[in-house]
Amino acid sequence: MTNQARSALITGNSSGLGLGLSHALLERDYRMYGCSRRGCAALADRVVDVHCDLSDLEAIGPAMDQLLAGVDHLDLVVLNAGILGEIEDLSSVSVERLREIMDINVWTNKVILDWLLASNIAIDQIVAISSGAAVLGNRGWGGYALSKATLNMLCRLYAHEFPDTHVAAIAPGLVDTRIIDTLCELSDTERFPALERIHAARGTDTLLSPAAAAERILEALPGLKEFESGSFVDLRQILAPAEYESLRKDCTNR
Ligand SMILES: NC(=O)c1ccc[n+]([C@@H]2O[C@H](COP(=O)([O-])OP(=O)(O)OC[C@H]3O[C@@H](n4cnc5c(N)ncnc54)[C@H](OP(=O)(O)O)[C@@H]3O)[C@@H](O)[C@H]2O)c1
Repeated sequence: MTNQARSALITGNSSGLGLGLSHALLERDYRMYGCSRRGCAALADRVVDVHCDLSDLEAIGPAMDQLLAGVDHLDLVVLNAGILGEIEDLSSVSVERLREIMDINVWTNKVILDWLLASNIAIDQIVAISSGAAVLGNRGWGGYALSKATLNMLCRLYAHEFPDTHVAAIAPGLVDTRIIDTLCELSDTERFPALERIHAARGTDTLLSPAAAAERILEALPGLKEFESGSFVDLRQILAPAEYESLRKDCTNR
């Protein structure tokens, strides 16, 4: 891959972390491929983009055929598209709603990974954007936590099937995006105490801008390869151990 232009695929490139990563990779002269429903209008002439609703699992194959026609290598694939779902007690969330969250946060990624395997595109590194919620088990984070925990295992299992590719699921830390906007609008901190930590992060260094989070992820990429392929890595664990320790303590105390 050394003499070719570097290239990357990012799902969910229209806003937040995916848009931040697209900017940061373009600055590093990557050829960028991406997909989302709204599209990456901010970088329209610099990104090869398809508009695709990833919840329509049947539409993913044709979208990837169009997006990656003629591509023979990808240095980086970031499985980033995701939704929060509701902050609600799990007993109040229907199975139908959980299925919708699982479709975007998990099964979409399975379909994309299957497409990539069948394509024979040489891939150096795959990173799935998971969350601390995958392991913390905070009240209210039901559908999101279940989906991100499953995403972590999806990565572990697919690592066996991508022997020449390093696969990791990562928690990026708190990033100032639509997901945080939604969480900051919720006030039921008594029932859902983990909201307090999110509200308190606004205006502090704990809440990263999408640009800063993207830089942090790109800087962490070589180090991720030190972990066994298929691992889940919370970036705070390696980059901000004090913050990570307090997060874990906070969770076990409640
Ligand atoms: N923000 C945080 O603090 C935080 C922390 C941990 C993990 N994460 C993870 O980071 C990832 C990015 O989220 P974000 O925080 O950047 O929020 P965001 O701004 O809402 O970005 C979500 C991205 O996913 C795409 N997406 C959602 N549903 C889709 C669908 N049906 N089809 C195609 N694309 C879809 C969205 O594109 P369209 O709406 O245009 O389709 C958008 O580009 C998610 O996986 C999230 O779980 C975020």
